Formats: sequence, structure tokens, C-alpha cells
Amino acid sequence: MNILAVESSCDETAVAIVRDGRQVLTDCIASQVALHRIYGGVVPEIASRMHIEAIYGLADQALERTGLRREQIDAVAVTYAPGLIGAVLVGVNFAKGVALAMGKPLIPVHHIRGHIAANYIAYPELEPPFLCLVVSGGHTMIVEVRDYTSMHVLGTTLDDAAGESFDKVARVLGMPYPGGAALDRAADGGEDTKYALPRSKPGANPYDMSFSGLKTAALNQIHHALQLGETLDIPSLCASFSAAVSDTLVPRVVRAMEETGCRKIAVAGGVAANSRIRRDILSAAEQMGAQVYLPPLSLCGDNAAMIGAQAYYEFLAGNTADMRLNAYATKSIVGERL
Ligand code: KG4
Ligand code: ZN
Repeated sequence: MNILAVESSCDETAVAIVRDGRQVLTDCIASQVALHRIYGGVVPEIASRMHIEAIYGLADQALERTGLRREQIDAVAVTYAPGLIGAVLVGVNFAKGVALAMGKPLIPVHHIRGHIAANYIAYPELEPPFLCLVVSGGHTMIVEVRDYTSMHVLGTTLDDAAGESFDKVARVLGMPYPGGAALDRAADGGEDTKYALPRSKPGANPYDMSFSGLKTAALNQIHHALQLGETLDIPSLCASFSAAVSDTLVPRVVRAMEETGCRKIAVAGGVAANSRIRRDILSAAEQMGAQVYLPPLSLCGDNAAMIGAQAYYEFLAGNTADMRLNAYATKSIVGERL
């Protein structure tokens, strides 16, 4: 089954064609990052306009690159939530138009379910059940993936997402948006114990977490050093910060493995590219005899291939939509039938 998948929830416009959920025939992406960088973050209005300009050409490019004719597309999938509402609406409307014109089923896909499904592309042997640490720019959660379309959230961040806190600290250090990857690179060779930073303690739900205190503590260290005229050891600050984020995430993942008995752990989302988190998850899993699934860096950030992968399983579960499909800025990953 060939699925034409559309992603436009934030600052990447993407169209992919994915066969049977696992084989990416093409993944075309137009990134707007350079444009938003001028403003230090995504400007929603600009993002929506850029999606409108890029989306049609990308769909044409996807067909051209695969040599497929329109009749050879079996369904159209689209991210319908969560994201910047104007941006998501562009993709949803485009996908509705294409599905209607071609007389093909329309498959709505939750963006975070898509991030999880990036692992199905990278690991053909991966099948639910497994645990997934989702760490993106807007979401941080530990999910029990019970089946392809059945998820249970063990815990989430109570405030900022991990990616958001990376970006904020990077921005104050003068790194260009989105600063997570730059902060990761800057941590290279730094001392991860040089700056004392807090770790979020388990609360009523031991899987829930918080990053806003950590972010504020890091910003205070930076401002304090500036006020005193001290030279900041940037590699060490970045290494200390990355270690604190990882120490917030990884012990909760270990606990989830212990309590559920599950020994398969996947990581998903843009922050899954972080070298410290990857390293720590690998070593924690090794100690527990667990199998780890880390998507290649190309599949960590936003792309449409992951939407096409998840769409296949949504289709098999009967989760299609009609022309009344709407877009949503927020929506639980647990989901309801549309
Ligand atoms: O999943 P994603 O592409 O977008 C959302 O759905 O939110 O995640 C983007 C986030 C940004 O905050 C970006 O700075 C972060 O992923 N990121 C990283 C790294 N690469 C990307 N954060 C830390 N270390 C990295 N290597
Ligand atoms: Zn994303």
C-alpha cells in the first residue's frame, strides 16, 4: 500500500511516499528554519504562509522522484494534531483536497505517534509492545506503546518540554534557533559536573517530570557569571545542562522498564538526536539487558516519512476520516476515533 503523507505542523513542510508502513520511497522536505532564525523562533503566521507556498511543489516532487502515477497512490495521510494551528490547517486542507480529487482514503495521524513510528522505518523488526521516550520541541513523555494504535502515557513534563529548555538555554548562550543541536555540539569536551544544576524529583506520579526549574537554574548561572564579569566555561555549562536533562529522563525510563517488565525501549522526537541522552539510554539499557531503538538523526526531527509509517497502521485499524476532518493545536496521543 503506497501512502502519500503530508507534514506541516511546525517549521518543516514535508511530503513522503511510504509503502506498507516501513519502506520510504521518498521523503521530500522544505525547511523554513533559516527564515525563522532571524526572529529567534518560529513565527506562526510566516510558517503557515511558507507551508502554502511549498506544499504543492513537494507533492509533485514526491511523485516525480518515485516515478509513481497518481493512481498508484492508495491513500493520503496527514498530521492533523498537535502543532501550530495555522500550520497544521495548511497540511490538512491540502491532504483533504488531494484525497477528494483522487478518490482515496484520508488518514489523520497524530504527530507524536508519527515520531514514534520513525522507529518502524529504521528497525523493520520492531513491533509493539515497547516503551518509548518521546522528546521533542513541544512534548516530553514516556509512552507505553501497547499496539500500533493503542498508547498509554506513563508520565509527561509538567511544564517545559526538553527541547524547549535546550533551545532557551542555547538562545541565551547566543546560539542560533533551534539551538538544541548546537548546544549538544558545544558540550563536546566539557565537564558535566562543573555547574551544579537541579534534577527534577519524582512527584505524585513518579514518571512525570519538570524542566522549567532546571532551565531557570541554567539561565541564572549564565546571568550570574555575566554580572560578575566571569568567563563562562561554555562546553562545561552545556555538558552539565545536557547531563541534567538526561538524568531527569533516563532514570524514569529505567523505572518504566522495571515496573512494566518491558525490555524494549525506543526514543523519538528531535531531542532523540542528543548525544548525551543516546549514550545514557544505551548504557542504562545494556545494564538491564534491554533492546534500544534509536532513530537515525535524519528521522529524529520532523519529516513526513514517519507520518506515512504510522498512517499505515492507523489505516489497518480503520482510523480514516472524511472531509469534515479538522486540525487541532493540542490533542492527546491516546486519541479517540474521528
Ligand atoms: O521533534 P522536533 O523536530 O519538533 C517538534 O515536534 O517539536 O524537535 C525539535 C527539537 C528542537 O527543540 C531542537 O532544538 C531539538 O529538537 N534538538 C535537539 C538536538 N537536535 C534537535 N536537542 C538537543 N540535542 C540535539 N542534538
Ligand atoms: Zn515533531
